[in-house]
Amino acid sequence: MTAQIIDGTAIAQKVREEVKAKAAARIAAGKSQPGLATVLVGDRIDSATYVSMKQKACAELGMRSFHHHLPANVSQEELEELIKKLNADPQVHGILVQLPLPAHLNEERVLGLISIEKDVDGFSPINIGRLAQKGREPLFVPCTPYGCIYLLDEVGVQIEGANAVVLGRSNIVGMPAALLLIGRNATVTVCHSRTRNLPEICRQADILIAAIGKPQMVRGDWIKPGAAVIDVGINGVPVLNPDGTPVINEKTGKPKQKLVGDVHFEEVKEVAGYVTPVPGGVGPMTIAMLMKNTLRAAEIQDP
Ligand code: GUN
Repeated sequence: MTAQIIDGTAIAQKVREEVKAKAAARIAAGKSQPGLATVLVGDRIDSATYVSMKQKACAELGMRSFHHHLPANVSQEELEELIKKLNADPQVHGILVQLPLPAHLNEERVLGLISIEKDVDGFSPINIGRLAQKGREPLFVPCTPYGCIYLLDEVGVQIEGANAVVLGRSNIVGMPAALLLIGRNATVTVCHSRTRNLPEICRQADILIAAIGKPQMVRGDWIKPGAAVIDVGINGVPVLNPDGTPVINEKTGKPKQKLVGDVHFEEVKEVAGYVTPVPGGVGPMTIAMLMKNTLRAAEIQDP
């Protein structure tokens, strides 16, 4: 069996076009232009890249973005002052604090300070609490897990009643993904670094979401035939020559890197019913869902 490859780039593009049209319609109707504030603390290259992609997406979709770059040694008080200012700014509908924060900062306090109606990442305790409770709805669903579920829905995978296995229990992906799946009436198993018999548990999964940050860890023989496999991993690994030595980039003199997921794509696609590629699977969905959440934030604050 060869799996259907889920084209996250195309599905994300469709979401972005819908958001762009709705943002333009708001502006044409005399309502406020949706605005996203991004907060980057320190100089992590990966975080800076993600934030700049988010700003670029705002520009492409006709939204405003307000970027705040704070030094790595910023104090908790200064960061909290900025959040309070953004909470009070009517041009800012969504606030995104890029994670992880430097270790001296209290992430929980910072995220808890973001007004719930501006919490487009869905990480505030109130949003996560609502996600975890039966019969309650969060105002915003965290972007990456929201993207994972959106992909499953787009290709018509039935979630209700399915056995779902989530690899990883992070606050950003694994845990909210598990809560979303429970909310959709899947039977959910959450696995982590101390889980025993991981391959055996994965083989029970009709839906497998891998978010562990271990390159190509999920192998073909871990997969139930026909399962839907969603790969959240983005891992840089060296490109190798046939003899196993690293390929060197002629310009930089450094080993060439490529991106791979947590799933061994070549093996898994022979067994699964559906699989997301890396790149071009979940990655583009995260930003598309952030844009969708930011539009929703504008609609809530300025109906
Ligand atoms: N770091 C990695 N993923 C995310 C995300 O979705 N939102 C934020 N704020 N930080 C992240």
